[in-house]
Amino acid sequence: MTNNPLGCLYGVGVGPGDPELLTLKAVRVLKASPVVFTPQAVGSKDSLALTVARSYIDESRQRLIYASFIMGGSSDSVWSEAAERIARYLLDGEDVAFLTQGDPLLYGSFMYVMTKIQAAHPQIPIEVVPGVTSITASASRAKIPLVSHGERLAVLPAMYGIDDLRDVLARNDTVILMKVNRRALAAASKLEADGELSRCVFVRRATTPREQVAFSLRDIAPEDADYFSMLILSGKKDGT
Ligand SMILES: C[S@@+](CC[C@H](N)C(=O)[O-])C[C@H]1O[C@@H](n2cnc3c(N)ncnc32)[C@H](O)[C@@H]1O
Repeated sequence: MTNNPLGCLYGVGVGPGDPELLTLKAVRVLKASPVVFTPQAVGSKDSLALTVARSYIDESRQRLIYASFIMGGSSDSVWSEAAERIARYLLDGEDVAFLTQGDPLLYGSFMYVMTKIQAAHPQIPIEVVPGVTSITASASRAKIPLVSHGERLAVLPAMYGIDDLRDVLARNDTVILMKVNRRALAAASKLEADGELSRCVFVRRATTPREQVAFSLRDIAPEDADYFSMLILSGKKDGT
């Protein structure tokens, strides 16, 4: 795809789940890349990014390579090894597409590989193909405004702790909790039950066949939430 003797590393955002939400550029890059890397959580057979992109990959002429990582906890050396594996193809002149669910630079594993390759092989060209994020996809499926005019939006990765959630709700108009686990769900349920929220929207697997959207956590059982779940919250402000 490039005239450079080195391959180009493409971080390809494949969007939230609906294959129609890949960009034209993502599809073009995916189809043209001889090597496609797909990150896969250790112990999981479910790669949402690959499910989305699969129909654009032709395994009779493209190599599909799995890069295993530990969800939320892979060590630096895991990413260094993945980066070096990928760099070998790039140094041999082959373009590599690295799949990322949603957008590559929003909590995407591509960024670890990208920074490693930038540091070790600064001569290798890199392009990032942005994707539709799960945040905008979830809001669109729930049909709720996220923020307008001077309003503030905060994004919190819930699995890393939300002890400051009350404070974040007070300082922002809309709060997105990503990487929702049972603890986060329980904390948000308590705030809702205590009447502290003016908005509490749960979205799982937005834009996929397993999508679930609920406007109260009273309708959600802990087992309804999986890794691809998010909460969109607003605290009660004066007059709400
Ligand atoms: C590692 S982050 C990846 C975010 C992704 N790069 C993006 O741009 O949306 C994974 C988190 O994104 C959220 N997420 C990803 N896909 C989703 C979907 N289809 N529906 C709802 N939330 C989703 C969940 O909160 C999940 O825990």
